[in-house]
Amino acid sequence: MDKILVTGGLGFIGSHTVVELQKEGYEVVIIDDLSNSSISVLDGILSISGKKPLFEKLDLKDKVGVEAFFAKHSDIKGVIHFAASKAVGESVKEPLLYYENNISTLVYILKELKKLPEASFIFSSSCTVYGQADELPITENAPVKQAESPYGNTKQIGEEIISDTCKVTPSLKAIALRYFNPVGAHASVNIGELPIGVPQNLVPFITQTAIGLREELSVFGDDYPTSDGTCIRDYIHVVDLANAHVVALGRLLNNKNKANYETFNLGTGTGSTVLEVVKSFEKVSGKKLNYKIVGRREGDIISAYADTTKANDELGWKTKLSLDDAMSSAWNWEQKVRGNK
Ligand code: UD1
Repeated sequence: MDKILVTGGLGFIGSHTVVELQKEGYEVVIIDDLSNSSISVLDGILSISGKKPLFEKLDLKDKVGVEAFFAKHSDIKGVIHFAASKAVGESVKEPLLYYENNISTLVYILKELKKLPEASFIFSSSCTVYGQADELPITENAPVKQAESPYGNTKQIGEEIISDTCKVTPSLKAIALRYFNPVGAHASVNIGELPIGVPQNLVPFITQTAIGLREELSVFGDDYPTSDGTCIRDYIHVVDLANAHVVALGRLLNNKNKANYETFNLGTGTGSTVLEVVKSFEKVSGKKLNYKIVGRREGDIISAYADTTKANDELGWKTKLSLDDAMSSAWNWEQKVRGNK
């Protein structure tokens, strides 16, 4: 079976994708620098799939190390590239760190893929490329708006680098997957999200508040033009998201792609307000969440949810899990991590 490199394979989305790849019979090699992940995730993967993936601790900024890795694994057929920094606020303070971490590493990998007789490449992009879209739901044809942070810019530039490279490299096929808001954990709760420090994202903040690690959730603004005044996002279960990567990879490996470079939105197609997410959590956990409404968070867009037509029709992929499933698994995971389960 084909050998696939998963960079950032011990991270939140990466680890769930490794499990789904193994389920399909792929041989997986993980590169991770452990900067935002734990080596124990390998055991979590093993306990689900019964297979320990090959693992190499490597910082992808080490160009010589990347070259040596590909020399050793010249039989790699595809790469799913998750490894990147993703904290929006940090990227504003440390733009060069973000450009180096997210852009130079991408270039080094693509340079190696160019040397292979054939290569398939899946890139972790984000709905952040659309900014506040003029029309909802958001299709892949919505214009890419000026990035609001260096992090967002690395996703836009990353897509351009891949597209430009594919134009002149017939042996390279690539898909950029634009994620909406990934949440939840594997049903086994052997893997999940492990945010370091105070979580910036909504769902880990909710579960950490419920477990008593945070005093209360601050809901950022209830005066937006939405049904209950809070912002709308498209929360997609990480296992559905992981499956989309396997489907996208299969599309490239089986030459089902319509162009050398394609983009797909990955969301559920349904928008939920912050308060609807809180309600879903309260329903599945049976716990009352401590929260208060505070002012708007700078840089937040009002509403974003995906038009899933292209992913449904072209990829033949659909989400199977609900927001309640995601909140329930996120809560089970939080309890397990804190030793309450
Ligand atoms: C954020 C990033 C986005 C990135 C994504 C990665 C910003 C502005 N955007 O998206 O670029 O791709 O994470 O996961 O940082 N909320 C609260 N209280 C909280 C946390 C969040 O009310 O403590 C609200 C937010 O205002 C938002 C929603 O929850 O309406 C989701 O927030 P979050 O999880 O941070 O995701 P995004 O803002 O969509």
